[in-house]
Amino acid sequence: MKAAVIGTGEISVEHLRFLRDSSRAELVGVCDLSPASAAYASQRFGAGGAFTDYHEMLSKSSPQVVHILTPPQTHKQLVSDILNSGAHVICEKPLALNLGDFETLWSLANAKGRTLIEDHNYRFNKPILAIDKLIADGRLGKIHEVEVRLQLAIRSCGRFADRNLPSPVHGLPAGVIHDFITHLSYLALHYVPCGQRVAAAWSNHGGGDLFKYDDLDALIIGDGVHGRIRFTCHAGPDCFTVTVRGEKGYVHTDLFLPHLHLVVPRMGGAKLTPLVNQFVNGVGRIKASAVNFHRKLLQRTPYEGVVTFLDRTYAAIEKGTLLPVTYQDMKSTSELVDTLLHEDNAL
Ligand SMILES: NC(=O)c1ccc[n+]([C@@H]2O[C@H](COP(=O)([O-])OP(=O)(O)OC[C@H]3O[C@@H](n4cnc5c(N)ncnc54)[C@H](O)[C@@H]3O)[C@@H](O)[C@H]2O)c1
Repeated sequence: MKAAVIGTGEISVEHLRFLRDSSRAELVGVCDLSPASAAYASQRFGAGGAFTDYHEMLSKSSPQVVHILTPPQTHKQLVSDILNSGAHVICEKPLALNLGDFETLWSLANAKGRTLIEDHNYRFNKPILAIDKLIADGRLGKIHEVEVRLQLAIRSCGRFADRNLPSPVHGLPAGVIHDFITHLSYLALHYVPCGQRVAAAWSNHGGGDLFKYDDLDALIIGDGVHGRIRFTCHAGPDCFTVTVRGEKGYVHTDLFLPHLHLVVPRMGGAKLTPLVNQFVNGVGRIKASAVNFHRKLLQRTPYEGVVTFLDRTYAAIEKGTLLPVTYQDMKSTSELVDTLLHEDNAL
């Protein structure tokens, strides 16, 4: 399919690599407000053309699929314009800033008979797919708890800490955390059923006026499953961990340093199970450290799920089959973000 990209910043590298390497897509154009950035991306990934105006790109390149990879505040206008042009839309998270905007864009996509999908890439990282299989195989038993934790030292370094050139994400309703909240929400909702009770503590422990919040501690409870969402800039080191606990055992992973720590009933009965778990997980950690050292040398990012997400999305568009992220997935994620931000649920 003829594909184009709008926004050639940080995340575009993952999308452009897929578009360059996949037999499912032909990269007909890239667009960025910065001509240098568009030209560089076009040259690096072999695009058909480089543009600074997406209207011009749409009329000259006629893409069938457009990837929207611009800051969140721009998505509503861009998604509408692309759907109206007749192309399918793959949009970076958060697709919309609230549920109302999401529903408006979804209705437009339906009216135009086009696909609209939000990138939920971490759901397709290998450790999360492995946890899905453990749950499907009944290894953890009925699920009772999940904790999704993102620790990032973004106050002390990096582009979000830049006072002289503030990132546009500081202007989002939940500030910088809004840029990460989609990931935390769809991962929690992957294990916690709908109909939740929600309480959220939003804090700015570091103070000052650049960051609206720098910490979120939230509880979501649905159908007997407790979910906890944590975002902090203050605890170290950087990590993105997911822990899922069932009636038989639990599994833990860090998406920044992929491995699985699995504690479940093992051969040897109740007496030997704790020791077998310790031994198996110890060996697993040693192996994971070698694999992760290799990943570091190759400069692999934690965005590995983007490729699986995009490959499944293109396959579904081609064949008209179920998309890897459904309307219900996007709607419940957007709904949870609204609920977390609602003052009635503030702690
Ligand atoms: N899925 C993930 O894991 C992940 C990771 C990082 C960022 N993101 C998301 O991707 C999106 C982009 O983030 P980023 O970190 O790449 O941002 P970025 O600031 O690095 O890049 C955004 C680019 O969009 C361009 N742009 C803005 N408005 C434009 C317009 N109207 N036309 C053409 N170009 C325009 C800017 O010039 C900039 O180069 C955000 O929604 C962010 O939340 C997702």
